[in-house]
Amino acid sequence: MNDAPLFDWLETAARFSLPGPGVSRFFLTEEHRQLIVYLRSLMVECGLRTHLDDAGNLVGRKISNGSDNVLYIGSHQDTVPNGGRFDGMLGILLALSAVYELRDINLPFNVEVVAFGDEEGTRFNSTLLGSKALSGIFDESALSARDEQGMSIAEALHDFGLNPEKIPSIARDQKNALGYIEAHIEQGPVLENQNLPVGVVSSITGIERHAVSIKGQAGHAGTVPMHLRKDALVAASFYVQWVDTYCKETEDMTGVVGKIEIRPNSVNVIPESANITIELRSPYKDVRLRARKALSMLTSRLVDAGFAVNSELIYGQEGLICDDVLVQKLEAAIQKENIPPVKIYSGAGHDALAMAALCPVAMLFVRCKDGLSHHHEESVDINDAIAAKRVLKRFIRDFI
Ligand code: HGY
Ligand code: MN
Ligand code: MN
Repeated sequence: MNDAPLFDWLETAARFSLPGPGVSRFFLTEEHRQLIVYLRSLMVECGLRTHLDDAGNLVGRKISNGSDNVLYIGSHQDTVPNGGRFDGMLGILLALSAVYELRDINLPFNVEVVAFGDEEGTRFNSTLLGSKALSGIFDESALSARDEQGMSIAEALHDFGLNPEKIPSIARDQKNALGYIEAHIEQGPVLENQNLPVGVVSSITGIERHAVSIKGQAGHAGTVPMHLRKDALVAASFYVQWVDTYCKETEDMTGVVGKIEIRPNSVNVIPESANITIELRSPYKDVRLRARKALSMLTSRLVDAGFAVNSELIYGQEGLICDDVLVQKLEAAIQKENIPPVKIYSGAGHDALAMAALCPVAMLFVRCKDGLSHHHEESVDINDAIAAKRVLKRFIRDFI
């Protein structure tokens, strides 16, 4: 049986992007629409029955005679700005290539390959929207999140020809959900350091995001005495410094000020306002809560110094320990491919975090060149991708 042309698929999928380095493909955009057409054609080629659900997920179902049980496999279609061609898409195409090569086998359960529409949350600052819909934990308030042009998710779904009112009906039935497996580029250096093509994810980090808006006082950059200024960018710099110092000094903690916008953003005007995002990650909730408390104390100090500061928790996702039984099945599949199975912590969030509300989940990591990701030079060696496909095929075939 011929091998699926995985790298051709990856090459083609990467083209559905805004211009510029890497891949920039955001939820419910024209690039997303074009990708869906392409992925759908691949799903049909793999012998799957396809449908696009009202949360923007594209689903390909391999029908099994007589069983209602379903094994879910998938990852996300969307990217960060100028991201790599593997983050998300590799997991979707590895699933399709495994199913493609199993197309003549009648499995004792159905398989649903799910290409989730919105995992990164790049456009609307939402995340895991598609996997939350499928796993039944979708929060309708997310529909009011707006992009930088002021369009809400609900409006964008309608424009895309979808009906947000139907999203609750996407939720899958827990009683026949056997499990969810996601293959994903590691996005870190562990497998490369151990010179291994694949590894098993032991646990996934918890993540929270805060939107902080700071209001100071604009003024003439030359005439206002320094000690009389309320420079919003200087206030924002205290947050930048705090995140870096606090997270460097705290075990199991990472953080970043990923976005900053200042106004009026003019060379000779004291910045009047600054809007930033702060993201805090740790697999341990108590560690994140302590960081949140320290963050609120910094905000209080800046308010006492005369700034108007609004700090809002805009996203929170608990971390996850992957399911023991699925992890053991994945380790067995890796071992049968003559690869020593290793376990890896994921500092990145994934759709598996949401799918865990539906069923047991496990993840297969694929070696990432230089540990570089969320970057246009992100890279996976074809032999590692093929090893991952072989492991995924075996995992599916041996599942029951
Ligand atoms: O941000 C993350 O961890 C993932 O790439 N969405
Ligand atoms: Mn990502
Ligand atoms: Mn990802």
